[in-house]
Amino acid sequence: MKATVDQYLCIGCGVCVGLCPQVFCMGADGKSGVYRPVTEETLSPVQEAMDSCPVTAISWLEHE
Ligand code: F3S
Repeated sequence: MKATVDQYLCIGCGVCVGLCPQVFCMGADGKSGVYRPVTEETLSPVQEAMDSCPVTAISWLEHE
């Protein structure tokens, strides 16, 4: 399972990185990115980050 952050939507609020630093990291451009696949352990915090992102920039990648 993989998540993705829409770079155009992300405003760099950092909520996702705070909730799940195992999957999200803040890039040098001040926008969050996904740098690891989602595992069973990180599924719940990633879902929480998705629900908490103020601009709904995080979504699941289809076909994964
Ligand atoms: Fe960006 Fe949303 Fe994370 S605005 S930093 S993707 S919580």
